[in-house]
Amino acid sequence: MTYWLNPIFYEFIKFRVLLFIKGFKRVQQNKIFIGSILFASFFLQCYECSDEYFGIPILLNGKKEREIMKSGLSKALVTGGAGFIGSHLVDTLVKEGCDVVVLDDLSAGSLSNLKHVKDKITFYKGNIQDQKILMKAAENCEVIFHQAALVSVTKTVDNPVDSAFINDLGTLLVLDAGRKNKVKRVVFASSSAVYGDDPLLPKHESMQPKPMSPYAVQKLTGELYAHIYYDLYGIETVCLRYFNVYGPRQDASSPYSGVISIFMAKAVSKKPSLIYGDGKQYRDFVFVKDVVKANLLAATAEDAAGQTFNIGTGKHVSINTLWDMICLLSGLNIKPEYAPPRPGDIIESVASIEQAKSALGFKPDYSFEKGLEITFKWYKDSRK
Ligand SMILES: NC(=O)c1ccc[n+]([C@@H]2O[C@H](COP(=O)([O-])OP(=O)(O)OC[C@H]3O[C@@H](n4cnc5c(N)ncnc54)[C@H](O)[C@@H]3O)[C@@H](O)[C@H]2O)c1
Repeated sequence: MTYWLNPIFYEFIKFRVLLFIKGFKRVQQNKIFIGSILFASFFLQCYECSDEYFGIPILLNGKKEREIMKSGLSKALVTGGAGFIGSHLVDTLVKEGCDVVVLDDLSAGSLSNLKHVKDKITFYKGNIQDQKILMKAAENCEVIFHQAALVSVTKTVDNPVDSAFINDLGTLLVLDAGRKNKVKRVVFASSSAVYGDDPLLPKHESMQPKPMSPYAVQKLTGELYAHIYYDLYGIETVCLRYFNVYGPRQDASSPYSGVISIFMAKAVSKKPSLIYGDGKQYRDFVFVKDVVKANLLAATAEDAAGQTFNIGTGKHVSINTLWDMICLLSGLNIKPEYAPPRPGDIIESVASIEQAKSALGFKPDYSFEKGLEITFKWYKDSRK
């Protein structure tokens, strides 16, 4: 249904119909050559739009997604590959013909995120702290994309020690498995949480980190280990500080989930959302496919080794605006409920992505409206 209502879809249709009519007129006027060129463009357009992403044809700056991302990686390990971001990364790597290994203990991820690629990947159910399985999974890999983590800030506040075993020791073990297996590069999923509540905006990589939760300390420690592994052992490491990632498959079932997934789930079930604080706090929301793109660039860009990059959009959206936009998408008119701010929550956050642009060639392809529309359609469809 959304497919037919989608404005992008109508733009494509309009353009293609125009090409067809113009071609037809030229042929009628015996201008066969020009007519054939217009017809050829018409068919090319049809072909270009034949790919669908969750039912919506996607053209990104005139190129199809698979044309933009060609990393040429032969074999890669994705830790946490059954999770939200990891599974999208796996999808793209598989599409590109890469031999993909996934290591995930399924503590938060799900095999259903990988069901469409299950025959094309090697899956290990296991903990990154299990060195034996980690070494096996990293065997002959060119790159490790380290996504596995305990991602809930609140859970790390409640369990600082247990979470450190996963997020600190786990990252160290992944780096070491990379070193011992002579993996060329490790791309580490860090977080914008390392900046804490420093009021300076946009957040720039050269700013002094100010972690405010065990989660942020753990991510920063992972970055430091990554740098040390590059300096001491020459294993190429790249750290990506993701800002607020959203998209299909983000788990909305826990109170610790990302705000967009929770709001989407509420909107789909026609319930009001709960906003902590006054809702004026804003975030830099980045679509998951753009995060995948950043990972692939980080895995291949020549001068990226040893560096840390912000991955966001450089734009910000307030939580109140987010709820309004979701209401607009879902045709709802429900006022949100408000609760006191949560401890450890960051008030304002927006990324400077200049460094990722210049060193990685990173530029987000998805506008917030487009990403939100794709995400909403997914939440709606997955309820059916
Ligand atoms: N989602 C965001 O907005 C965001 C923002 C900043 C950083 N990050 C980072 O990106 C990465 C991916 O996050 P996500 O949102 O996809 O979370 P997710 O919870 O969906 O994915 C994490 C995956 O890691 C797996 N995992 C957890 N502990 C493990 C362990 N000990 N051994 C093996 N597997 C384990 C989980 O089962 C899950 O599949 C994480 O490192 C997270 O800290 C995410």
